[in-house]
Amino acid sequence: MEAKSYILVTGGAGFIGSHTIVELLNSGYSVVVIDNLVNAYAANEKQKPESIKRVEIITGKTVPCFNIDITDKKILNNLFQQFKIDCVIHFAALKAVGESVQIPLQYYQNNIAGSNTLFQVMQENNVKRLVFSSSATVYGTPQFLPITEDHPTGQGCTNPYGKSKYFTEEILKDVCVSDPEWQVILLRYFNPIGAHESGLIGEDPSGIPNNLLPYIAQVAVGKREKVNVFGADYDTPDGTGVRDYIHITDLAIGHLKAVLKLNDANFQGCEVYNLGTGRGYSVLEMIKAFSKASQKEIKYEICKRREGDVASSYADATKARKELDWIATRDINDMCFDAWRWQSANPSGYDQNPSIAR
Ligand code: NAD
Ligand code: WQD
Repeated sequence: MEAKSYILVTGGAGFIGSHTIVELLNSGYSVVVIDNLVNAYAANEKQKPESIKRVEIITGKTVPCFNIDITDKKILNNLFQQFKIDCVIHFAALKAVGESVQIPLQYYQNNIAGSNTLFQVMQENNVKRLVFSSSATVYGTPQFLPITEDHPTGQGCTNPYGKSKYFTEEILKDVCVSDPEWQVILLRYFNPIGAHESGLIGEDPSGIPNNLLPYIAQVAVGKREKVNVFGADYDTPDGTGVRDYIHITDLAIGHLKAVLKLNDANFQGCEVYNLGTGRGYSVLEMIKAFSKASQKEIKYEICKRREGDVASSYADATKARKELDWIATRDINDMCFDAWRWQSANPSGYDQNPSIAR
């Protein structure tokens, strides 16, 4: 085994993982990435995922990356034998809310059984430091706003995706009770959007985007005709849904701060942090901001509400500020501008643009 220690990043070829790896590498950490490519593009099986190739361009560093599925205990174990792993940032998951209602067993197998397998391998290899990608979805319908970390969780999770995040959080809390050597940080993201300022990496949804920002971006670039606004009769200032959008680079830096926290000798057990800006924007405000950033007209149509949506959701991110020394610094214009730079340079995502691909 090599003497150098690594941060293992699961699902590192995805949207949040790739941006986080840039921040980790730029701060001097070494990373090893695993991803089974279920939601990431590679030209072929022998090539690294395109997102990782571009991370290498941005940082000038080489990233070891393996096509490994987190549900495969034996191969995971081999990896832990091969690399000295200091801690794990666990992004790998299926994440489409609607799809999770259609194929719940796949979601539970991948997100819960897969996570459990990863945690077993960690335990068996005496690696007990973890940052886990959780979601504001665990809060369900907000009982109060802004949402603090002690808001009840689990009760309002109406879909298998949300439940998989809630259950995995609960598993990790139990693991920390069982063994005080574990150090776990649960990061509950609000709505990550935007792209790296280079325009080389960004969000690359397959098929019709489920989330608002990629959909708006595809309308702006001419791939789709109009945005369907899901409801204008909510109890919000303009009637459309309000969310706490956060720039992907701010979110990525939140992971860096979480890793620093794990390195704090006094840190013990399981802590949870919201990562959001603390401010909400409506669907119509987002369309307007994106139109300004892209200098494009963005057509929209008011449609009926989408099932399962809440009127408003935004974070109280005070705990992350106080305990992680983290704050979101990029505003809505930065988010839209950076998303547009990525979208306009990569209208079809990663599987185009051979001039950039190596
Ligand atoms: P993503 O789909 O872009 O990235 C996830 C990556 O994990 C993909 O590259 C995929 O190929 C990989 N993966 C999935 N299952 C795997 C498996 N069994 N083994 C190995 N790799 C596997 O998604 P993202 O937006 O980067 O999200 C990262 C994490 O953050 C996920 O856990 C997601 O649930 C969570 N999260 C995302 C959001 C969001 O809005 N994007 C919000 C809250 C939480
Ligand atoms: C934002 C707003 C929609 C699309 C989801 C997951 C959550 C988390 C983040 C992973 C809402 C409206 C959307 C469209 C629209 N993911 N909208 N037209 O629902 O807050 O959160 O992604 O953990 O779990 O549920 O994000 O981007 O889908 O929607 O009007 O085409 O935009 O109704 O008000 P959401 P979103």
